[in-house]
Amino acid sequence: MTNWELRQKWKELHQNPDHRNSLRPEIADSWERSYDYQINPYLRENPYICTRAELAQYQDNSAYLIATSDRIMNSLFEFVAGTGFVVTLADPNMCILKVVGDPESLAWANNAYLVEGSMWSEDLVGTNAGALALALAKPISVYGYEHFCLFSHVAACSCAPIIDQGKIIGALGMVAPYDKVSNHTLGMVVAATKHIKSRIAMEKAKRYHEVIMESMAEGLFTLDLNGNINYMNENCARIFKFQKDAVIGRNIFDLLGHKTENHYFINKITQGRTITDENFTLAIGRETIHCNVTCNPMRDLDSADGGAVVIVRESHRINRLVRNYIGGGAKVTFDDIIGKDQRFAQVIKTARAAASSSSNVLLLGESGTGKDIIAQAMHNAGPRKNNSYLAINCAALPRDLIASELFGYEDGAFTGARKGGNVGKFELADQGTIFLDEIGDMPLDLQASLLRVLEEKKVMRLGGVKLVPVNVRVIAATNKDLEQEIERNRFRRDLFYRLGVIKITIPPLRERPDDILPLAEAFIERTCKRFNKPHMTLAPDVVDAFLSYEWPGNVREMQNVIEGSIQLAPDNVICYELVSEYFVNKNVAKPADQEITNVAAIEKQMIIDCLVKYKYNKTEAAKALGMSRRTLYRRLAEYNIMD
Ligand SMILES: Nc1ncnc2c1ncn2[C@@H]1O[C@H](COP(=O)(O)OP(=O)(O)OP(=O)(O)O)[C@@H](O)[C@H]1O
Ligand SMILES: [Mg+2]
Repeated sequence: MTNWELRQKWKELHQNPDHRNSLRPEIADSWERSYDYQINPYLRENPYICTRAELAQYQDNSAYLIATSDRIMNSLFEFVAGTGFVVTLADPNMCILKVVGDPESLAWANNAYLVEGSMWSEDLVGTNAGALALALAKPISVYGYEHFCLFSHVAACSCAPIIDQGKIIGALGMVAPYDKVSNHTLGMVVAATKHIKSRIAMEKAKRYHEVIMESMAEGLFTLDLNGNINYMNENCARIFKFQKDAVIGRNIFDLLGHKTENHYFINKITQGRTITDENFTLAIGRETIHCNVTCNPMRDLDSADGGAVVIVRESHRINRLVRNYIGGGAKVTFDDIIGKDQRFAQVIKTARAAASSSSNVLLLGESGTGKDIIAQAMHNAGPRKNNSYLAINCAALPRDLIASELFGYEDGAFTGARKGGNVGKFELADQGTIFLDEIGDMPLDLQASLLRVLEEKKVMRLGGVKLVPVNVRVIAATNKDLEQEIERNRFRRDLFYRLGVIKITIPPLRERPDDILPLAEAFIERTCKRFNKPHMTLAPDVVDAFLSYEWPGNVREMQNVIEGSIQLAPDNVICYELVSEYFVNKNVAKPADQEITNVAAIEKQMIIDCLVKYKYNKTEAAKALGMSRRTLYRRLAEYNIMD
């Protein structure tokens, strides 16, 4: 078809509606719509070219599409270079975002008003391939006279919509002078849009993976078969102090291998084996990094070794997590501590005041006097209350384990040591409080190590070479007489002073009789509540017994007596029978003893009377009293009768 013939055919179509029956139905329908839009078919140029600013805005809106299509448009053009074609990309409004061509084809496209920023929607310029591809959501070619407007009738165009997740996001086209068109252009455009679609899907998957990797709290990197880093998330780059972009493609050995300390780690993760939660100590720059590593080998599709995914967690972050869980080690507050006895109140006052300081505290007192709960209350009343509270019983731990418990150890510190070492309680309690219970039972050599930690505020793991700074408040407690232990060379005097910056001595219960009944009352209430029993009271004789008993086990003992008797009480009175078994053979003024005491008082008075009568002649007096001289002497001593 010559130019003239083409023009004639186009004209006839407009002039004679019957001729339009010869058009393909989708073209004929589009012509009808174009008439409905009242588009002037005799337009000699495309009047709809947007401004630079508008184009910039449209390109910005579709930046992702332009970037993904860029390479594909260029390769598509390479196929047809020199044959008069241009490749176009339009947005969903049919604004041309990009045109790729060579100088000749671009010059032709320019004349056909096919330029970046030109608008080709059906309602503006009538039938054209791009508008139809968008309207019908399918690839289509429009040839010469099939175009509705005069200015476009010299072109032939194949166009396909670009659909992402069911939504049209643009259209790709190949346009040339009508006589250059081949049968294959539509197929090429369709193949290219498919390519764009899978690129978009791939990019999205990549982005999706990246978002996942970057939102992990752990460090993560992947290695290929040769130990080259394929991917590293920001967290990992931060842990290793790398620039994320600078390490991609680098070899793990080049990055970390210059320090021999790291060789073990590198060997482990490049062996293609699974590692689960193994601890490593790495040398990064001048720093030592303790981390916990999980590594999974990747298998390629052909099941050959395909490198590894390595997950790195910094130990101090794990410690913090652990601390958050065990931080509730201190449950008691000062409100839970009962006692109004003057001496005890003074103890609590001192403890409260000391709570806000960071000084070491030494709590002294017999067993069961409340050292444990006062230590907890101090932690909870101080500035470290939201950090960990770790309690260590130095008497309960096997001697060999105390040091590694307290200070941790490095890999290979001793036989049986865990691979990768272990973190000690001092490191774990960083920023918190450590309660060293039964400090009097700490072996001497460890006392020296403890002293060093207290002085330097740094710990060195067993078998380690580096000092780790720790900020820990130490509260120590013992029921031993430390002065005596020092005398016997079983406790270091310097440690005693270091620990006892603040020394708090808790008086035994027998020395604070005013606390006995309030404590008993509180324990009854607590226990009854716990066992869902009605409130109970102490029978008067039990009250007497409680008040006169020595309580060698102090508050703990009383708590046990009360809990035990409440369990057995048939009604809501705790009577003497329920508690008596606790006091058997113990120094307690039972009601029966009261009588004995009375008898004794009478006996004492008789002895005194008799002595006076016989003018302190003990032989005469003994005879008169009907007892041996030895018994009399014993009674004198017993009743404290002076000569
Ligand atoms: N003043 C008090 N108010 C409330 N309960 C107390 C009081 N004193 C001690 N108790 C309770 O008595 C029990 C023993 O107290 P704690 O464990 O603190 O004693 P301790 O001095 O650490 O003893 P030990 O030397 O045997 O370790 C705990 O159950 C505690 O709750
Ligand atoms: Mg204790």
